[in-house]
Amino acid sequence: MQYQLLIFTLAVMALVAYPFWRVASTASQKAEPAAYAKVERGRNILLAGLTVLGLAVTVVTLRPWPHDAQAAGTAQIVKAVGYQWYWELDKEEVAAGTPVVFEVSSADVNHGFGVYDEDGTVLFQTQVMPGYVNKVKHTFTRPGTYRVLCLEYCGAVHHEMIGEFEVVAAN
Ligand code: CUA
Repeated sequence: MQYQLLIFTLAVMALVAYPFWRVASTASQKAEPAAYAKVERGRNILLAGLTVLGLAVTVVTLRPWPHDAQAAGTAQIVKAVGYQWYWELDKEEVAAGTPVVFEVSSADVNHGFGVYDEDGTVLFQTQVMPGYVNKVKHTFTRPGTYRVLCLEYCGAVHHEMIGEFEVVAAN
């Protein structure tokens, strides 16, 4: 997914850079008025196309957000509190296959609650703010040891603000 995104980003960058390159490479040539009109029409078409493409990409990629954090009757609730510089989770174990709602808050400053699987891939994240409880829902499919990393710089030992919990197979 990340690789496809990179390719897509490079393609769009090339598309955006092309008119600049055209202008720079033809700057010394004397263009006829008709040629100006042609360039302008091409530019308008490109602009309209990029606008439509941008809107489409925005709508398609943002549709799954925000995550539905309404606690379903069967959801497991984990209360997580961020401190400088550690996490406190009220459960060390959750079951795979059933939604888990993380209710996240901070005891001091802003933190970022990022949950990573065993391969080091971030699964989801949410802001951690004093005075607020942010909820994020996720259903784990694979048992294993998951890690919580702080994703917002929160002081000298930010990088060691790492928590852990187990996902066990549903019984
Ligand atoms: Cu907590 Cu960075």
